[in-house]
Amino acid sequence: MIKALRTTAALLLLGASTLAATASQADTANTPTTATIHADTPGPVYDKDIFTQFAEHLGEGIYGGLWVGKDSAIPNTNGFRNDVVGALRDLSVPVIRWPGGCFADEYHWREGIGDPKNRPVKVNTHWGGVTEPNAVGTHEFFELIRQVGAEAYVAGNVGDGSPREMAEWVEYMTAPAGSLADERAANGHKEPWHVKYFGIGNELWGCGGQMRAEYAADVTRRYSTFVKTPAPDLMNGKVDNKLLKVAAGANVEDYNWTETMMRIAAPTLDGLSLHYYVHPAGGWPPRAEPVNFDESGWADALHEAWRMDELITKHSAIMDKYDPKKRMFLAVDEWGAWYKQDPGTHPGFLRQQNTMRDALIAAINLDIFAKHADRVRLTAIAQMVNVLQAMILTQDDKMVLTPTYWVFHMYKPWQDATVLPIDIKTPTYTVGKYTLPAVSGSAVKGKDGKIHVSLSNADATKANTVTITLDGAKEGKVSGTILTAPAINSHNTFAAPNVVKPAAFNGAKLKGSTLTVTLPAKSVVVLDLQ
Ligand code: AHR
Repeated sequence: MIKALRTTAALLLLGASTLAATASQADTANTPTTATIHADTPGPVYDKDIFTQFAEHLGEGIYGGLWVGKDSAIPNTNGFRNDVVGALRDLSVPVIRWPGGCFADEYHWREGIGDPKNRPVKVNTHWGGVTEPNAVGTHEFFELIRQVGAEAYVAGNVGDGSPREMAEWVEYMTAPAGSLADERAANGHKEPWHVKYFGIGNELWGCGGQMRAEYAADVTRRYSTFVKTPAPDLMNGKVDNKLLKVAAGANVEDYNWTETMMRIAAPTLDGLSLHYYVHPAGGWPPRAEPVNFDESGWADALHEAWRMDELITKHSAIMDKYDPKKRMFLAVDEWGAWYKQDPGTHPGFLRQQNTMRDALIAAINLDIFAKHADRVRLTAIAQMVNVLQAMILTQDDKMVLTPTYWVFHMYKPWQDATVLPIDIKTPTYTVGKYTLPAVSGSAVKGKDGKIHVSLSNADATKANTVTITLDGAKEGKVSGTILTAPAINSHNTFAAPNVVKPAAFNGAKLKGSTLTVTLPAKSVVVLDLQ
């Protein structure tokens, strides 16, 4: 399979420590950036599910952020905020992962069905020790899915749940007939729902049960065996309920976990996950400031973001050994930046502002996923609203869209597009001990028939001109959109919601098959060629 982003950036990264000693910021200015897009040798599909979003019962991710309840003064439809749902619809969110996260491995689905007045109020032991009213349960989640126009990724409870509980939840959601289907109908939904993805637990190496890899692989086999959806002929072929099972995969560079899961459990699975968060300022626990950072904090985080390429490469190589035909997918179903919480916010709510730095982190990741689109067919940024690298922040009745939201908006043409291989020869960008590629990018042929090219410039202070050769593409017109901002830590607030917002971009010229693009410092650009 052709790799879609044969960038020298990865090579530069591998040699980062050597380069750090020799490269300087002057590199960006003095070395030209060149690229070739191979439109004549298309690669795999960039699965739209790479734009999946994660909504956990955590802080104000669900309550307040998405759900305000039917009686709220905040405009809502069946309890879900109209402003937030409208913004998510505009983003064409393909899939929502719910209810966790760590929350999933303590979640008991029966507590979230039936009359809300009779649902137990629990304590959310993972996230802040606050009460969990169970007001949003299975029916409400599928109402959210309906309103957003997305599909469901439901994460099951392996940690403190039983295989029977998991099997019955799946039956409750998907069965066209039987007592559980009758109960679902009595609770207001006669038709079965479609569950596209089902997670066999979450982070079984950690909050999901502190399991060792061999044990987790056996447990995954066992639970997975009982997750069944109705055969198509149960309803004269009318029920389409193929469900893809995703196992709890590795944390960062735990390659032994991937190896063990693949060796022991692969035949029972469709996907294996990987979780990787950007933790600048020295790793765990999160200590980097979301807004008050300098250029070193900027470069640190972007350098960490590039690590995703190496992680996917190595985890994929292990999967290739057991699954050379790539039947299974690697699901990077938690990724994004994880900083210190915003001052004054509840500890355990993981609320953080989102700046131009997060926009670059999002763009770099979405480009890396293009390179690996043959194996990576699902990813989920953490998280959707008010938590970690969020798309949307809310406070009472106010809502603001983050720089990360706008990157996802600009990359919408990547959804189910065909990846076009791109070779990028970029100079490095160095700040102190952090050296990374100055320019990241990817290219696709969209379902609209146009070529779309993303380019981002990580250099905080210098513009970068990229000369791109288009192999196998017809001459035409170019138009573009840019996301940039006055400062590396520029961000949107309720008082000033449009500080970081896409604008028309006129810095690209197409002459014959040569595209010349001048990227301002700290910018993300998306070009449309037709
Ligand atoms: O996204 C926040 C938490 O990070 C999730 O609940 C967990 O899976 C991960 O550790």
